Amino acid sequence: SSGIAGVRERTLIAVKPDGVQRRLVGQIVHRFEQRGFKLVGLKMLKASEDLLSQHYHELKKKDFFPYLLCYMSSSPLVIMVWEGHNVVQTSRMMVGSTNPAEANPGTVRGDFGIHVSRNVVHASDSVEGAQREIQLWFNHTELIDWDCCDHSSTY
Ligand code: TYD
Ligand code: MG
Repeated sequence: SSGIAGVRERTLIAVKPDGVQRRLVGQIVHRFEQRGFKLVGLKMLKASEDLLSQHYHELKKKDFFPYLLCYMSSSPLVIMVWEGHNVVQTSRMMVGSTNPAEANPGTVRGDFGIHVSRNVVHASDSVEGAQREIQLWFNHTELIDWDCCDHSSTY
Protein backbone atom coordinates (compact mmCIF):
# COMPACT_ATOMS: atom_id res chain seq x y z
CA SER A 1 0.00 0.00 0.00
CA SER A 2 2.87 2.38 -0.75
CA GLY A 3 1.94 5.25 -3.00
CA ILE A 4 5.37 6.87 -2.94
CA ALA A 5 8.04 5.39 -5.22
CA GLY A 6 10.98 3.96 -3.29
CA VAL A 7 9.18 3.97 0.05
CA ARG A 8 10.03 0.28 0.57
CA GLU A 9 13.76 0.88 0.28
CA ARG A 10 15.71 -0.68 3.13
CA THR A 11 19.20 -0.31 4.56
CA LEU A 12 21.39 -2.04 7.12
CA ILE A 13 22.56 0.07 10.05
CA ALA A 14 24.84 -1.38 12.72
CA VAL A 15 25.99 0.11 15.99
CA LYS A 16 29.60 -1.07 16.18
CA PRO A 17 31.28 -2.39 19.37
CA ASP A 18 32.51 1.05 20.41
CA GLY A 19 29.00 2.47 20.03
CA VAL A 20 27.48 -0.28 22.17
CA GLN A 21 30.21 0.03 24.79
CA ARG A 22 29.74 3.81 24.97
CA ARG A 23 25.93 3.39 25.49
CA LEU A 24 25.11 5.16 22.20
CA VAL A 25 22.50 2.65 20.93
CA GLY A 26 19.51 4.70 22.12
CA GLN A 27 20.75 7.95 20.63
CA ILE A 28 21.43 6.30 17.27
CA VAL A 29 18.04 4.57 17.15
CA HIS A 30 16.43 7.87 18.13
CA ARG A 31 17.94 9.71 15.16
CA PHE A 32 16.49 7.24 12.68
CA GLU A 33 13.07 7.23 14.36
CA GLN A 34 13.06 11.01 14.53
CA ARG A 35 13.87 11.28 10.83
CA GLY A 36 10.76 9.20 10.11
CA PHE A 37 12.27 5.88 9.08
CA LYS A 38 10.64 2.61 10.07
CA LEU A 39 12.44 -0.06 12.06
CA VAL A 40 11.76 -3.48 10.51
CA GLY A 41 14.53 -5.60 12.10
CA LEU A 42 16.78 -5.38 15.15
CA LYS A 43 19.11 -7.72 16.98
CA MET A 44 22.22 -7.83 19.10
CA LEU A 45 24.96 -10.32 18.36
CA LYS A 46 28.65 -10.99 18.56
CA ALA A 47 29.66 -11.42 14.92
CA SER A 48 32.13 -14.07 13.72
CA GLU A 49 35.19 -13.01 11.73
CA ASP A 50 33.85 -15.20 8.91
CA LEU A 51 30.57 -13.28 8.68
CA LEU A 52 32.44 -9.97 8.95
CA SER A 53 34.82 -10.90 6.15
CA GLN A 54 31.78 -11.56 3.93
CA HIS A 55 30.25 -8.27 5.02
CA TYR A 56 33.49 -6.37 4.26
CA HIS A 57 34.55 -8.52 1.26
CA GLU A 58 35.48 -5.44 -0.79
CA LEU A 59 38.14 -4.48 1.78
CA LYS A 60 39.97 -7.83 2.01
CA LYS A 61 43.19 -6.43 0.49
CA LYS A 62 43.38 -3.34 2.70
CA ASP A 63 46.09 -3.24 5.33
CA PHE A 64 43.58 -2.37 8.05
CA PHE A 65 41.36 -5.40 7.25
CA PRO A 66 42.68 -7.73 10.03
CA TYR A 67 42.29 -4.93 12.60
CA LEU A 68 38.79 -4.19 11.32
CA LEU A 69 37.71 -7.83 11.77
CA CYS A 70 39.31 -8.04 15.20
CA TYR A 71 37.57 -4.87 16.40
CA MET A 72 34.20 -5.70 14.86
CA SER A 73 34.17 -9.22 16.38
CA SER A 74 35.52 -8.13 19.77
CA SER A 75 32.17 -7.43 21.40
CA PRO A 76 28.48 -7.22 20.43
CA LEU A 77 26.93 -5.25 17.61
CA VAL A 78 23.37 -3.99 17.40
CA ILE A 79 22.24 -4.49 13.82
CA MET A 80 19.09 -3.01 12.37
CA VAL A 81 17.14 -2.76 9.15
CA TRP A 82 15.48 0.60 8.52
CA GLU A 83 12.95 1.26 5.77
CA GLY A 84 11.71 4.40 4.04
CA HIS A 85 11.98 6.79 1.13
CA ASN A 86 15.60 7.11 -0.01
CA VAL A 87 16.78 5.52 3.25
CA VAL A 88 20.16 4.34 1.90
CA GLN A 89 21.38 7.75 0.77
CA THR A 90 19.81 9.66 3.66
CA SER A 91 21.36 7.27 6.21
CA ARG A 92 24.81 7.79 4.72
CA MET A 93 24.26 11.53 5.14
CA MET A 94 23.09 11.06 8.74
CA VAL A 95 26.10 8.84 9.55
CA GLY A 96 28.70 11.14 7.99
CA SER A 97 32.15 10.60 6.47
CA THR A 98 34.01 7.34 7.14
CA ASN A 99 36.69 9.24 9.04
CA PRO A 100 35.02 10.96 12.02
CA ALA A 101 37.75 13.62 11.93
CA GLU A 102 36.28 14.72 8.59
CA ALA A 103 32.61 14.11 9.42
CA ASN A 104 30.32 17.12 9.76
CA PRO A 105 28.93 18.01 13.18
CA GLY A 106 25.32 16.84 13.31
CA THR A 107 26.22 13.46 11.81
CA VAL A 108 26.64 10.40 14.04
CA ARG A 109 30.35 10.14 13.33
CA GLY A 110 30.82 13.92 13.51
CA ASP A 111 29.12 14.05 16.91
CA PHE A 112 30.50 10.89 18.52
CA GLY A 113 33.80 9.92 16.90
CA ILE A 114 37.41 11.00 16.47
CA HIS A 115 39.18 8.06 14.76
CA VAL A 116 38.45 6.09 11.57
CA SER A 117 39.04 2.75 13.29
CA ARG A 118 36.31 3.49 15.89
CA ASN A 119 33.61 5.19 13.89
CA VAL A 120 30.58 4.05 15.91
CA VAL A 121 28.21 2.98 13.17
CA HIS A 122 27.85 1.16 9.84
CA ALA A 123 25.47 2.14 7.03
CA SER A 124 25.08 0.41 3.67
CA ASP A 125 26.43 2.51 0.80
CA SER A 126 24.04 1.54 -2.04
CA VAL A 127 20.63 -0.04 -2.56
CA GLU A 128 22.26 -3.19 -4.01
CA GLY A 129 24.80 -3.30 -1.18
CA ALA A 130 22.00 -2.92 1.35
CA GLN A 131 20.10 -5.87 -0.13
CA ARG A 132 23.22 -8.03 0.00
CA GLU A 133 24.02 -7.02 3.59
CA ILE A 134 20.44 -7.47 4.83
CA GLN A 135 20.40 -11.03 3.41
CA LEU A 136 23.75 -11.72 5.03
CA TRP A 137 22.75 -10.60 8.53
CA PHE A 138 19.02 -11.34 8.71
CA ASN A 139 16.78 -14.33 8.10
CA HIS A 140 13.61 -13.18 6.29
CA THR A 141 11.49 -14.23 9.31
CA GLU A 142 13.38 -11.67 11.40
CA LEU A 143 12.21 -8.77 9.23
CA ILE A 144 8.78 -7.52 10.25
CA ASP A 145 6.34 -5.81 7.90
CA TRP A 146 4.09 -3.64 10.03
CA ASP A 147 1.69 -0.77 9.50
CA CYS A 148 0.54 2.07 11.70
CA CYS A 149 -2.85 1.60 13.28
CA ASP A 150 -5.23 3.97 14.98
CA HIS A 151 -4.81 3.16 18.68
CA SER A 152 -7.97 5.08 19.60
CA SER A 153 -10.06 2.33 18.00
CA THR A 154 -8.39 -0.60 19.79
CA TYR A 155 -11.45 -1.17 22.03
P1 TYD B 1 34.40 1.78 4.24
O1 TYD B 1 33.38 0.85 3.68
O2 TYD B 1 35.38 2.38 3.31
O3 TYD B 1 33.70 2.99 5.03
P2 TYD B 1 32.16 3.17 5.50
O4 TYD B 1 32.01 2.45 6.83
O5 TYD B 1 31.99 4.65 5.66
O6 TYD B 1 31.29 2.60 4.43
O7 TYD B 1 35.24 1.04 5.38
C1 TYD B 1 34.61 0.16 6.28
C2 TYD B 1 35.17 0.37 7.65
O8 TYD B 1 36.56 0.07 7.68
C3 TYD B 1 35.09 1.81 8.17
O9 TYD B 1 33.81 2.14 8.66
C4 TYD B 1 36.13 1.80 9.23
C5 TYD B 1 37.20 0.85 8.70
N1 TYD B 1 38.34 1.59 8.12
C6 TYD B 1 39.51 1.69 8.84
O10 TYD B 1 39.63 1.14 9.95
N2 TYD B 1 40.57 2.40 8.31
C7 TYD B 1 40.48 3.02 7.11
O11 TYD B 1 41.46 3.66 6.66
C8 TYD B 1 39.26 2.92 6.37
C9 TYD B 1 39.11 3.59 5.03
C10 TYD B 1 38.21 2.20 6.92
MG1 MG C 1 31.33 0.78 3.43
